[in-house]
Amino acid sequence: MSATAAGVLDVRLDLFPRQLRFVLDPARFPGYVGGIGAGKSHAGAAKMLAKVATTPPGLSMVAAPTYPMLRDATARTLMRLMTDAGWPYRLHRSDNVITLTSGHEIILRSLDNPETLRGPNLDAAWVDEASLVAREAWQIVKGRVRSGPAPQAWTTFTPKGRNWCWEEWERDADADHPLYRVRTDENPELPEGFGPSLGYTGAFAAQELGGEFVAFEGLVWPGFRRDRHVARVACDDWRATLAVDIGTRNPTAILTLRGEPERRHVQAEVYRRNMSSEEIVAAVEAEADRVRPERIWIDPSAAAYIETLRRHGYPAAKANNDVVYGVGMVATALDEGLTIDPSCVNLIAEMESYHYPDGRANDDKPVKEFDHACDALRYGIASEGRRMTGQLAY
Ligand SMILES: Nc1ncnc2c1ncn2[C@@H]1O[C@H](COP(=O)(O)OP(=O)(O)OP(=O)(O)O)[C@@H](O)[C@H]1O
Ligand SMILES: [Mg+2]
Repeated sequence: MSATAAGVLDVRLDLFPRQLRFVLDPARFPGYVGGIGAGKSHAGAAKMLAKVATTPPGLSMVAAPTYPMLRDATARTLMRLMTDAGWPYRLHRSDNVITLTSGHEIILRSLDNPETLRGPNLDAAWVDEASLVAREAWQIVKGRVRSGPAPQAWTTFTPKGRNWCWEEWERDADADHPLYRVRTDENPELPEGFGPSLGYTGAFAAQELGGEFVAFEGLVWPGFRRDRHVARVACDDWRATLAVDIGTRNPTAILTLRGEPERRHVQAEVYRRNMSSEEIVAAVEAEADRVRPERIWIDPSAAAYIETLRRHGYPAAKANNDVVYGVGMVATALDEGLTIDPSCVNLIAEMESYHYPDGRANDDKPVKEFDHACDALRYGIASEGRRMTGQLAY
């Protein structure tokens, strides 16, 4: 497609058919729901370029669930497309704004603290990985998009169970909320066999490769509730431990735990796929330098990482990987008021879908997919003993 705004900006976008229909859809709140690598970020960014090229100068927003996701994926895709289009732009890092010589401005925001969104009126907004964002943040975005000739806000995401995105674009869908579902294998740019190489089966394959909203039965931690367990806690002076689940094709998850076993808070997460072993070690060490953990609990099968970190002077140790015990310890911690910072969006999404095979909530082991942050949480909590105080009654 090609579009020109008053002779100022011209853009030619190469899109596959479903991406093109999404980009051209004039509805108020379109959603592009796809599997991993289904061209979601590309389509969301292309829609922003198309919008900017066809509307007079104004203010728009590009948003992602967390700042690292915004910086490493969402904004990067947007800037690559603008560079490819030959648009002169400037990124003002201090206030996270992109300005174009045409006079258009695009603000870049992470949505883990939606209060920072109050204020501007927007012509357009794109929320990438919207299923990891709280419903309240999307509501605020919708309310802000109300200026320019055709205000529009759109999302791109891989589903995370039947959360608010399912309600918005499937269960309660209306003409304002058209849904474009794209399977991973519809993206012709991916290498042959990319989807199957990720190793998903069953419900997770339907979600992560098919872009379907799956209801997960037999949740491992049915007691987990966002309104009770997701909270900001001032804990910088609490003792710290790190917990690490190593992945290569799968994501590596690094959690920063604070507090005593009886009162825990998960303060931060790193969650990234395709990291090299050097990148994994560097990421663990960077977080350890920040929080000075008493221990770094690591996947016991990752002996080489433990060895490397110890050699570098870090307190790495083999985690307890007894699944049934660890699952029970996390359940106890949740009962006792374990809290998770809202920026830990991947841990939260995994906890809402971590389930037993065939929906059976018995003492089977949970399905071993999409469990990377959950495994790290298990390690962090199950590897520490608990102090028992009190008197024995005879
Ligand atoms: N229309 C297109 N033309 C050229 N390349 C494309 C197109 N759509 C997607 N791609 C490429 O395909 C790859 C995956 O696309 P993209 O990153 O947009 O997918 P995604 O669904 O956002 O992935 P993730 O699940 O990792 O967030 C990228 O290398 C991207 O540049
Ligand atoms: Mg993406």
